[in-house]
Amino acid sequence: MMVLGIETTCDETSAAVVTRSPSGASDIRSNVIRSQVEIHSPYGGVVPEIAARAHVEVLDHVIAEAMRQAGVDYSELSGIAAAAGPGLIGGVIVGLTTAKAIALAAKKPLVAVNHLEAHALTARLTDGVAFPYLLLLVSGGHTQLLAIEDVGKYTRLGTTLDDAVGEAFDKVAKMLSLPYPGGPQVEEQAKHGYSARFPFPRPLLGRREPDFSLSGLKTAVRLEADRLAPLSDEDVADLCASFQAAVVEVIADRVRAGARAFRDRLGRGPTALVVAGGVAANGMIRESLAKVAAELNTRFAMPAPVLCTDNGAMIAWAGAERLARGIRDRLDVSPRARWPLDPAAAASASARA
Ligand code: KG4
Ligand code: ZN
Repeated sequence: MMVLGIETTCDETSAAVVTRSPSGASDIRSNVIRSQVEIHSPYGGVVPEIAARAHVEVLDHVIAEAMRQAGVDYSELSGIAAAAGPGLIGGVIVGLTTAKAIALAAKKPLVAVNHLEAHALTARLTDGVAFPYLLLLVSGGHTQLLAIEDVGKYTRLGTTLDDAVGEAFDKVAKMLSLPYPGGPQVEEQAKHGYSARFPFPRPLLGRREPDFSLSGLKTAVRLEADRLAPLSDEDVADLCASFQAAVVEVIADRVRAGARAFRDRLGRGPTALVVAGGVAANGMIRESLAKVAAELNTRFAMPAPVLCTDNGAMIAWAGAERLARGIRDRLDVSPRARWPLDPAAAASASARA
C-alpha cells in the first residue's frame, strides 16, 4: 500500500509518500520538509499563531512537491494520513483539514495519526524492528520510556517529572544566548568544550523507577552561568559540554532502569532499544545508547537524524501500519492538542497530581 502523510504539529511543514508491503517492507518515495526555524528565530521559540499561518501558506506546495517527487497520482494512494495531535492546535487543524479534503476528493480512507505514535513506529520504517521493543522518546515536549508491544499497544514505563530533555537543551541554549532551536547549538558548542569542568548534578541516577528529572540540572547550569557572567566563548562551550555529559549519563542510567521495568512487565527482554524524537539527533546521546544496548545484549536502532525530527514520512508510515490492520478514521475526527500514547498512565499521573 502507498500512503500520503502530512505533518504540521509544530514548526515543520512536511508531506511524504511511503509504501508498505504486506510483509512490512518499506520505501520512502518522497519526504519533503519545510522548516519554519527562520520564521520563529527572532522570537527565540515557536510562536503558535505564526506557525499555523506559515503551515497554511506552504502546505499545498509541500504536498504537491511530495506527490511530484514520488511520481504518483492521488488515485494510486491507499490512504491519507495526518498528524491529528498532540501539538500546537492551529497547525494540527491545518494539516488534518487538508488531509480530510484530499481524502474526500480522492475517495480514499483517512487515518488520524498520533504524532508520538509516528515517532514510536519510525524504527519499523527504517530498520524493520519487530515488536516488542523498548523505546526512548525524547523530543521538545516529551521524555518517555515505553514498551512498544504492537500497533496501538504502548505501555509507558517512565516519564519526566518536570522538563522534557529537548526542553532542557532549549532552555540551556537560551540562557547562554545561543540561537533557537537550542539542541543542535548546545551539541555544537559542546564539541569544543571541557565536559569535566562543571560537576553538574545527575538527577534520579540509580533510582529504580525509570523516570527522569531535568529541572534541577537546568537550574544548576543557570546558577553557574550567572556566577561566571559575563561568559567567555570558552565558558559557554564548557557549560554546554558539562550539561550534555550530565544528560548523557542520566539517559543511559534511566534506560537501564527502563530495560529492567520492561522485563518485569513483559517477562522477556526487548527485541531492540530504539531512540526517537528530535533529541535522538544528538551524536553523544546516540553513541551512549549504542553502548547501553550492547550491555543489554539487544539490538540498537536509531533512525537517521532527518527521520528523528518531525517529518511526514513517519506520519505516512504510522498511517500505513494502521491501515494494514484495518484501522481508519471518520472524516469528522477531531484534532487534539493533547493525546497521550498510554492513556492509562496519563490518567493515573493526573489523578496523582
Ligand atoms: O521531535 P522534535 O523535532 O519536535 C517535537 O518536540 O515534537 O524535537 C525537537 C527537540 C527540540 O527541543 C530540539 O532542541 C531537540 O529536539 N534537538 C536536539 C538536537 N536536535 C534537536 N537536542 C539535542 N541535540 C540535538 N542535536
Ligand atoms: Zn516530534
